[in-house]
Amino acid sequence: PAPGWAVDADVVVVGSGIAGLTAALRCAAAGRRTVVVTKARLDDGSTRWAQGGVAAALGEGDTPEQHLDDTLVAGAGLCDENAVRVLVTEGPDAVRRLIAAGAVFDTSAETGEIELTREGGHHRRRIVHAGGDATGAEISRALVEAVHAAGIETVENALVLDLLQDAEGRTAGVTLHVMGEGQHDGVGAVHAPAVILATGGMGQVFSATTNPSVSTGDGVALALRAGAEVSDLEFVQFHPTVLFLGPDAEGQQPLISEAVRGEGAHLVDADGVRFMVGQHELAELAPRDIVAKAITRRMQEQDTLHMYLDGRHFGAEMWENRFPTILAACRSHGIDPVTEPIPVAPAAHHASGGVRTDLHGRTTVPGLYACGEVACTGVHGANRLASNSLLEGLVFAERIAEDIASRAAEGSGPGIPVPATGPLQPATARYEIQRIMTRGAGVVRSAESVDEAAEALETLYATALGELEAHGKTAEPGVDTWEATNLLCVARVLVAAAQRRPETRGCHWREDHPDRDDAWRRHLVVRLSATERR
Ligand code: SIN
Repeated sequence: PAPGWAVDADVVVVGSGIAGLTAALRCAAAGRRTVVVTKARLDDGSTRWAQGGVAAALGEGDTPEQHLDDTLVAGAGLCDENAVRVLVTEGPDAVRRLIAAGAVFDTSAETGEIELTREGGHHRRRIVHAGGDATGAEISRALVEAVHAAGIETVENALVLDLLQDAEGRTAGVTLHVMGEGQHDGVGAVHAPAVILATGGMGQVFSATTNPSVSTGDGVALALRAGAEVSDLEFVQFHPTVLFLGPDAEGQQPLISEAVRGEGAHLVDADGVRFMVGQHELAELAPRDIVAKAITRRMQEQDTLHMYLDGRHFGAEMWENRFPTILAACRSHGIDPVTEPIPVAPAAHHASGGVRTDLHGRTTVPGLYACGEVACTGVHGANRLASNSLLEGLVFAERIAEDIASRAAEGSGPGIPVPATGPLQPATARYEIQRIMTRGAGVVRSAESVDEAAEALETLYATALGELEAHGKTAEPGVDTWEATNLLCVARVLVAAAQRRPETRGCHWREDHPDRDDAWRRHLVVRLSATERR
């Protein structure tokens, strides 16, 4: 659709989690006219829901080198070591700057020092947290306040549609659909020579996820349509311990932070047996893919739909003080972790892959940057280490802002919208896609399951395309139809990658190829051709 309104800026930041708001603050501080656009409210993305915290080598005796080692092990041979080195060496100061920007983390009552917890895959206590288990909410609060205090223009309820590019293919801004934001109502554009995608993840591509409803892969879909390279989409991390609310639970599910295991809770099976002991030197604190697989295997063996997380030995006071959010969520569903074990099962949690970037957040489209979960910087490899994602958002947002600030401010013309000629999916396709993906490309995959998923997704696509060709139109444009279209776009690429990787590595588990294969110690990079971008 043709833009009905337009705003000019030096930088447009798409998304308002830790990555987007950090980038916006830095760009504005460097004197760049910065506009933040976000699909719902400023604090509606995944950051607000983060529980465990931010990993950084801040503790006595800890070093970036040890953090690097743990990250590389979790990443199962596919991390980019240079990117991880950047993450772990720049991480501690980035956390200190976040504190200076107003975020308040938990400190020890005795020493006044920042309190550090443990999570899966970390050999040390190195996770800073806030409000016990409400770390993301505090970070979000602090950054939203800082953005308002800096007077940065924000446009809420603005769903990004497509990239604007000039005749040479350089970034020239984005088109947006805005609902009810006064002067910016309807389809419009922000013209800017630099666009930072910070749109978060794509957990909503599965039926049960820890991600909020806004996590629909919009940034990856936009990047694919713009001809950018996307990498590692097959590596979807399933969080091992999500509150089990029944076999048909759909949408965002309550997370039971890994920090609960970090503080000593036990995973037990239907017979009350601690099944992680003896499976890995870190037992319940093994890297996340290993724990998710062990849970899934034991569920299959016992023919049950969940395992249990037992933290009864914490006592009421510790639950109330250290894990108030989780305690309240469990109790609101009739489960009291103080007196009973919590039923848990894996659910989709984090996209380790995304839009491919270099160490400065630059994608393969000039002027288009990506940071946070939407990006594939190389730090996560085949399986992200717990609590590295908030850190990644922080560190690489700062690097992007530095890169933009180091360039002369360029103007940009109106740009040509990337032609969005493809069919729009009906809103109901969202649920169909989620069911297809959960069945065929969930925790456990096989050639048969991913082939079936691919075929079912192609049918959805072909049906809408057939309608477009026969009647000249498909579903009415709107947030729900664009979201369903983006979900289908990322699901098709994800499944194609899962079909092409015949091995088990990190969080990609192919039961028909149960071992890691050294020949596959490489990345699957996708760039859609002009005809495939419909
Ligand atoms: C958690 O609190 O378990 C989530 C931490 C993360 O995903 O990094």
